[in-house]
Amino acid sequence: MKINIVQSASGKANASALFFIKKSVQFSDVLSENAEKQVESVLNGMEDGPFEDLEYLEIDNQPTIFVDAAKERGLSALDHLRMAAYRLAKKVSKRQIPMVSIMLADAAPEQFKSVLHGLHYADYKFDAYKSKQKDAFQVTFEIVAGDQSAVFKKIAEDVAVEHKAVVLAKNLINTCSSDLTPAEFVENANTIAKYTPGLSIKVRNMKQLEKEGFMGLVTVGKGSSHEPFMITLSYDGTKSVRGTKTKAANARSSSDHLVLVGKGLTFDTGGLCLKPPKSMPEMISDMSGAATVLAAIQAIATLELPIKVSAVCCLAENAIGNKSVLPGDIFKAKNGKTVMVDNTDAEGRLVLSDGLAEAGLIGATHIVDIATLTGAMVRALGYAVAGFFSNDDDLGLKVINCGEACCEKFWSMPLEEEYADALKGNFADLKNTGSDAGAIAAALFLQEFVPENTAWTHWDIAGTAFVSKAWKYTEFGATGFGVQTLIELAREMSN
Ligand code: BES
Ligand code: ZN
Ligand code: ZN
Repeated sequence: MKINIVQSASGKANASALFFIKKSVQFSDVLSENAEKQVESVLNGMEDGPFEDLEYLEIDNQPTIFVDAAKERGLSALDHLRMAAYRLAKKVSKRQIPMVSIMLADAAPEQFKSVLHGLHYADYKFDAYKSKQKDAFQVTFEIVAGDQSAVFKKIAEDVAVEHKAVVLAKNLINTCSSDLTPAEFVENANTIAKYTPGLSIKVRNMKQLEKEGFMGLVTVGKGSSHEPFMITLSYDGTKSVRGTKTKAANARSSSDHLVLVGKGLTFDTGGLCLKPPKSMPEMISDMSGAATVLAAIQAIATLELPIKVSAVCCLAENAIGNKSVLPGDIFKAKNGKTVMVDNTDAEGRLVLSDGLAEAGLIGATHIVDIATLTGAMVRALGYAVAGFFSNDDDLGLKVINCGEACCEKFWSMPLEEEYADALKGNFADLKNTGSDAGAIAAALFLQEFVPENTAWTHWDIAGTAFVSKAWKYTEFGATGFGVQTLIELAREMSN
């Protein structure tokens, strides 16, 4: 796919595209007067005949594609536009139309952004494991932007960076677990750090983790032949990047340090508390949190956002082996609290205890942890909405607003103190299972490891990270959920 942003239509396009909602056409002011009249009569006649979500008509002697921008239930206006652009791009490549002009001269910047996102999503395919890789049909989208073309060009550059990150996360998540062990994840992160100016990386292996007392990762990871790792990536946009100060860094200095912590179980068998076969294959996605924070920090650094951000990936494989942790085993976490492993399948919260400790050690003022943490969250909110918890109302509000701007839905869940007693261990301070409210119990457990005086939010993306049937712009597999909201949060905090 190629995207060219132009002031006015080049005349070379094989078709042009217009978005409509019921009887009005959006972004049509580039049409001639005659064409406007034709469009109007088409739309007025809509009620008489069948009108699909995509319709090909001749307008102004030019094949014109009408795309319904308000078809799906429950989506915001911006998400409708993403979906419309996604459907347009899918259809256009299926019909092998090489060049399409999209009439956006009248669009607001957020609307333009949504259209771009939709086109990018349609361009994704994961065929690394197919025996025959099909050559994707190359479509050029000419975006007719009128006098907004300079602004739109800058937005398109930023969206391309964001989408590169979404694709990175999706590729990592979709890769099967034998091909993406914790060590291989580290290799990917090393490559990204090497090629992203301003991004530095620190990696701890099993031996170092053990020596420094990061025993959550050690406890979960020791049953596997693939050792656990912790990665800490750092970027400081308030300092100089690429030898010069970042654009806005001169103007501001803030003490905010946003630390993103991701659950990175490259596979979760459940350990000795083995998962049933039906729920196991999806566990290739149990490193979605780590992939999401890696992708987000890559984009944040590339965009040179003027804020200090770090990302901590807690990587392990929850496997069965002769060294696997036994139910009832007790370990001492990095912050000194002792934990009894009641259920080896509740491993995410154990590795995250180390991620949260690391966030404290590197001076986080704000922490976002992101994890495919509980089946309970899938049952509560399904695949379309992620539940989040927060100890800070201001940060919580930002999560909702940034999510909305990125068409990612978040629902606020309570850190219900009444359930906290259920986490108490008999011999140990804590155990890794709690009340029936499984997602809340997991969040309350994590809260025990949040450094003092730190604003914290926990995102449980167990439902939204990976879909087994088509949802919005994902046919099957990783959705990339969270990458955009994390980038937007960093952008928001840097303003
Ligand atoms: N990785 C799973 C959670 C999960 C479930 C992610 C479904 C994606 C889809 C997690 O490690 C887990 O197994 N949690 C247990 C905890 C329980 C044993 C307390 C769960 O939710 O069942
Ligand atoms: Zn598990
Ligand atoms: Zn898990």
